[in-house]
Amino acid sequence: MSLLALRAVTRTVIPQDQPALTILNGVDLQIEPGDHVSIVGRSGSGKSTLLNMLGLLDLPTSGEILFDDRPVRSYSSAQRDRLRGAAIGFVFQQFNLLPGRTALENVTMPLLYASGRTFWRRKRIAADMLALVGLEHRLNSMPDRLSGGEQQRVAIARSLVRGPRLILADEPTGALDLDTGQSVMELIDEVAVQTGAAQVIITHDPTIARRARRHFRLDRGVLTPVDDPSLEPLTRRDRREMAPAPEEAASTGTDELAVLGLGTATATATLPDPADSGPTDDARLDAPEGED
Ligand SMILES: Nc1ncnc2c1ncn2[C@@H]1O[C@H](COP(=O)(O)OP(=O)(O)O)[C@@H](O)[C@H]1O
Ligand SMILES: [Mg+2]
Repeated sequence: MSLLALRAVTRTVIPQDQPALTILNGVDLQIEPGDHVSIVGRSGSGKSTLLNMLGLLDLPTSGEILFDDRPVRSYSSAQRDRLRGAAIGFVFQQFNLLPGRTALENVTMPLLYASGRTFWRRKRIAADMLALVGLEHRLNSMPDRLSGGEQQRVAIARSLVRGPRLILADEPTGALDLDTGQSVMELIDEVAVQTGAAQVIITHDPTIARRARRHFRLDRGVLTPVDDPSLEPLTRRDRREMAPAPEEAASTGTDELAVLGLGTATATATLPDPADSGPTDDARLDAPEGED
């Protein structure tokens, strides 16, 4: 049984007054539980479009996507949202932390719609997750007081707090220096190994790509397995082009709330305030493990 399977997936868009554009062309990819896959490709090759397919954010124009062997097309969009929220964690180049919210509040966010025990223990769970990424001393820090590496760690804690079975990362180290990038990747690996989650890492950095067990290259929408991503003939110009400018990175079109399992952007108004927690909540955070 595979976790996720793409069969002959094609994605075509028809921009206004222009001919149809095939962004993904016959993509076959099977992700097993605990898998570790890297995908490299030039800017504009379709990487983010592919990530949106893998993350059940968009459906293919033709071909099929199976999650736990069930066709994704058979889910309603609300079911797909729930599945995504429960099973998939996203890590992006831009950290997308909510400003004016502490690290703890940011990580608590995906648990706001959890039910029962998880909901009531959400602050404890979020605090434990922040401790796991080495930020137990930063629970109450605002994002703008954290370094880039620390912000990415908070974003990773938020992505992983619901224990996803699939971690999808789109240029996760693109905004970090080399050393910080390496330690952030080690962290994702560590959590993935601990929880048995599968990872799909999209990157233009061969040293990051080489950490994966299986490697692919995307070229004009065609996905091909490669033996060693470091042997890919990337020119210096490629690398420059592949590091997106901040404005470009911010406009990937991915719905930030959808990837947090919090519905769509239009539902923002209904988002509960994480600071607005019950009176027993902080007591629970301080309570020793196992008391409730
Ligand atoms: N909705 C869309 N309408 C028109 N063109 C699109 C759309 N989405 C993506 N594209 C184009 O498809 C190509 C692949 O985009 P993308 O998946 O973002 O590539 P990458 O992440 O590899 O840079 C780019 O040329 C992009 O401009
Ligand atoms: Mg992209």
